[in-house]
Formats: sequence, C-alpha cells, structure tokens
Amino acid sequence: MEQTLALPHGLLSWDDIGPKQATTVVVLLHGFPHDRAFWAAQVEAHGAMFPAIRFLIPDLPGFGRSTPLADTTMDGYADAVASMLDAAGVRQAVIGGLSMGGYVAFSVWRRHADRTRALLLMDTRADDDSAAVRDRRLASIGIVERDGIGPLVAGMLPTQLGATTRATLPAVVERVENMLRRAPAAGVIGATRAMLARADSRATLPSITVPTLVLVGDEDTLTPYSDAVVIASAIEGSRLVTIPDAGHLAPLEQPATVNAAIAEFLDLLADR
Ligand code: MLT
Repeated sequence: MEQTLALPHGLLSWDDIGPKQATTVVVLLHGFPHDRAFWAAQVEAHGAMFPAIRFLIPDLPGFGRSTPLADTTMDGYADAVASMLDAAGVRQAVIGGLSMGGYVAFSVWRRHADRTRALLLMDTRADDDSAAVRDRRLASIGIVERDGIGPLVAGMLPTQLGATTRATLPAVVERVENMLRRAPAAGVIGATRAMLARADSRATLPSITVPTLVLVGDEDTLTPYSDAVVIASAIEGSRLVTIPDAGHLAPLEQPATVNAAIAEFLDLLADR
C-alpha cells in the first residue's frame, strides 16, 4: 500500500507491504536510475516467500513519486530513509540496497546505526569513484541537462544487465529499459552529483557489527565479484552469495535465487 510523507523539501513516497506487527522489517533501496518498481519481483514473491516480513520500499528522492532533495547527497537519502522509518513506526529495520541503494545503506549505517538491524548489500561497492568514472558522470550530467536521460539509455543496458539476461530474457530487458527512460532528469542529475561526492565507505566496513548479507550477480561488470569480496572480507561474520546468470540487477534478473538467499538470511536473523 502506498504511503506518503511531507518532508521539508517535498513528498517522500513508499510502498508498505506485509503485516504491520511484523518483527522483521526490510527496507529495499533501489539503484540508479531506478525507482521502487525495481523490486516488483520481491513484492510478487511476498506472500509465498516473505509472509511474516514487512517491506518498506521507497522511491528515493527525485525518482518515482518522491520529490528531489534541494541538495542531493547520500546522507540526505539516508535521512529520508530514517524519516520513513519514523513515519512507519519502525524502530529498526534490515537495510537493503542495490548499487546506489548500497551507498545509501552505508550512509544509513554511519548516521543511523541504531535503526539498522542488519544489512543486505546487493551488487554494490564500498570505494568511491575512479577518475574515469568521475569523467563519465560529469559528461552524463551535461547530456541529461540538455536532452534528458534518453540518449544514455542504450549505452547503459549492457552494464545494467548480464549477458544471459540480454540474450534470453527480453521482457526483463524491456522492463529495465522502460524504467531507465522514465527516470526524471532532476533526480538523475541530483543522484549523479551525490554519487560523485560520496564518501569512500571502505573505512566504514570494519565498523559494521550487524549481520550482513552481500549478494552479487556473477555477470555483474559494473560492481563485480571483486567489489563484493572487498565488502564481505572487511565485515566480520558477513556472508557472500553469488547469483548465477545475473548481472548488475540480480534481484530483477534472477529473482527466485535472490529471494531464496534473502529468505534464508532473514530466517537466520529471526533465530538470533
Ligand atoms: C547503480 O546501479 O546504482 C549505479 O550504477 C551505481 C553507480 O553508477 O555507481
């Protein structure tokens, strides 16, 4: 069910799914330049795989139905997540994020560790941008300011989706292409600036003391297995799971495998 909250900068919108009295709440944060529809396969599987879990799935500010922040930063996104938890009456949640959503999850941990029950880090990285990535992001801001995201979409698909998905799952390719095309220019520009300015989170990793699951598609070329290893090897007790036949968007490319890994992690969490 859709919920909205009026924050000083504008509206924050999210889906609230599952029992209100659930003891385990999972926040799912989409990547760039996505919106909450990214998690459709997890929502579809809710009744079968996660009936006792409450999902809170926001459009990060500037995407979907959420207003962009005046000055977009990862910390600003993280504070919006904390405001959503307040509005939902949730003290602590498992913070799950894909790629840019993972960068936000690191900020949530730094700023709101007391709200973080566990972390679910999917197809993401801890380090900040290389010079080449910075240059590419700066060039992309110019293009989006002029023409919107349209001219960038075709070039993004090969790094968003794995080779297997591109060759065998045309409906998934079409869904992702549509999601990229509808990303609002203001949200895309704000998120790109926020990613350019984001902290190197490698120093944060050893401070993470909550249970952590790291997931990565084995065909992810944008944040490959080696990035997942950097994260998992620096967080004591974390678990690293590789998703076969998936690229950078593993939860959407291979939902059954990802959902099973998440469900297993949440079961273990409930026993702790
Ligand atoms: C994402 O999927 O969120 C982005 O590709 C992350 C990035 O560009 O660093």
